[in-house]
Parts: sequence; structure tokens; C-alpha cells
Amino acid sequence: MDFVNPPAMFVFVDGLLAPRIFPLFYRSFASSVALNGDETVLEFGGGSGGISERLAGRLKRGSLTCMDICPPMLEIAKRRLRRFPQARCLLGRIENLDLETGSLDVVVIHNALHDLPEAERSAAVRTLASLLKSGGRLHFREPTKSPHGFPAERYRDLMTQAGLHEIASREYKLFPIGPVVHAVFERQT
Ligand SMILES: C[S@@+](CC[C@H](N)C(=O)[O-])C[C@H]1O[C@@H](n2cnc3c(N)ncnc32)[C@H](O)[C@@H]1O
Repeated sequence: MDFVNPPAMFVFVDGLLAPRIFPLFYRSFASSVALNGDETVLEFGGGSGGISERLAGRLKRGSLTCMDICPPMLEIAKRRLRRFPQARCLLGRIENLDLETGSLDVVVIHNALHDLPEAERSAAVRTLASLLKSGGRLHFREPTKSPHGFPAERYRDLMTQAGLHEIASREYKLFPIGPVVHAVFERQT
């Protein structure tokens, strides 16, 4: 799909409807992300902000950046996040956003990495890894069933090739997207 100029139906269903009708889908991932409240957090492919809005409220002394390449999804995210002064939305490719190396405590990716063309995934994950502080963590949950997703091992390879170390990983079935891998990786140097 062309996420820069997406079909209106995608924006309506994924952007507007899904966070309303599947709150548990978002809450279960957001609540799995350990936070003290003072972290610098970035959501990659944050879409309409269904995860970001659930993290922003927990970052009273921190900050949250919701980034995506899809203008209409990010417009919805801006509305969802407007009550959080500690949150902002950034439009563009992660490699072009000019974020400071080693500046993030936490990166989250929810149901987004599989949507990148295969040739772009490695560069995106390497960039995200470089943005993490030493000890910073990348949390992700992604579908593992073809054709929507790909096997957990390939997500693991993307993370380890970017220099990240696995802390935890589990696979389970999740309504409404089916089998997923839910994992935490850490930058240790
Ligand atoms: C299925 S949606 C999920 C959105 C959100 N993470 C959620 O769970 O509701 C996938 C998102 O990935 C975004 N995306 C696709 N390619 C991207 C890229 N190269 N960089 C950043 N975001 C991207 C899309 O625009 C879309 O908003």
C-alpha cells in the first residue's frame, strides 16, 4: 500500500475505527511497555496514535514522539494527542527526521514494521537502534502470519543485525490480527 497517499478506507478503518472498537488491542501492548514516567519515547509508524495516546499519559516528566509517513493518519494522531503537551507528531521517514543519535530511552513499534517494503526494513531498524541510548529498549508487536506478517525469526534477525540484544520474546494469537510476536530488545553499547 502507498502509505503516503493511502486509500480513504484504510484511514477510516485503521485510523478512526480500530482504536475505538478494539481498545484492548491497543491497551494490552501499551501497558506492556515498562515506563517510569520520565523517558524519551518514540513510536515508529504510530499511525493515528492509538498506542501513543496510551503511552503519553504515563510520561508526566518525559516526552513522546509519534512518527509516521502517512499524513492523514498523523492528522488523527495530532488530535488524539493534543491534550498531552509532552507529545508531538513527526511526519517523514525515520532516516530523514534528523533525530539525535543516542537520545531515546524507548522505541515502540506496533503492527507497523511488516508494512515496510522488505528492502527498507533493515535501514529503518538500524536507524531506530542508533537513536536509542545505551540501555534503551525497543518494544515491538508484529503479525507473524503471511501474507500480512512474516515469521518471528525474521523480526529477530532485523533487530540483532542492528546490534540489539533480545530481552524477552513471546508468540501468541491476538484478536483481531491473529498470530503475533511480542518482544523487547535492548541496545547494550
Ligand atoms: C497498520 S498501521 C498501524 C498503526 C499503529 N502503529 C497502530 O498500531 O495503530 C501501520 C502504520 O505504519 C506506517 N508506516 C508504513 N511505512 C512506514 C515507514 N516507512 N515509516 C513510518 N511509518 C510507516 C503506516 O503509515 C501506518 O500508519
